[in-house]
Amino acid sequence: MPLHLVDHPLAQHLLTGLRDKSTQPQSFRSMSSSLTTMLVLEATKGIASEERSVTTPIKTTTGRVLSEGLAVVPVLRAGLGMLEPVVQLFPDVAVGYIGLERNESTAIARSYYSKLPDLTNRYTLCVDPMLATGGSAAQAVSLIKAHGAQKVVMVCVVAAPEGVAKLESAHPGIDIFTASLDEGLNEKFYIVPGLGDYGDRLYGTF
Ligand code: PRP
Ligand code: URA
Repeated sequence: MPLHLVDHPLAQHLLTGLRDKSTQPQSFRSMSSSLTTMLVLEATKGIASEERSVTTPIKTTTGRVLSEGLAVVPVLRAGLGMLEPVVQLFPDVAVGYIGLERNESTAIARSYYSKLPDLTNRYTLCVDPMLATGGSAAQAVSLIKAHGAQKVVMVCVVAAPEGVAKLESAHPGIDIFTASLDEGLNEKFYIVPGLGDYGDRLYGTF
């Protein structure tokens, strides 16, 4: 199933804190980071690992180690808030950046920056907290694929049904990990009930 809802009680507790309009940027960043850790743990369950012999202080046994490269691509600006938890979990991760900004009236995303490594043979996470119309995510995943990625997973905090449909139609079969599938979009293309403008709440730019 391409849409994966992370419904762990702690994930839902953190999401409620993010939705709360009285949550200030410092707490917002902290909750965003903790929730991203939970989403990313689920989103990387499919990464390859292999057996490795390991000697404990007691005896030699068999363990498993990661055997596939990982990459993460945050979509600027709000996606930057999801980068640090990934780097903490996976210190060897390769990081690429994509800058996209929605036009306020049309919600069509304009690309203003892209710096991506070769993503061939890397399990690649595209991180962007809000999947609203899906235009930004669809563009970002196209750019990621154009840099060689064969396995791309989308990680977002909140998704709207419109965004899920758009991303699935642009990239059939893509796995989407999120803490919530919300009701839909309002006339300004914001997610309802959503949590407002993620970038503004993360960086205090109201
Ligand atoms: C937000 C968000 C996504 C995009 C989602 O970015 O971070 O990138 O909107 O909307 P969509 O699914 O309709 O494309 P925004 O353009 O507001 O830029 P920002 O992150 O710099 O605030
Ligand atoms: N971007 C946001 O930050 N919030 C939304 O609800 C939609 C797009």
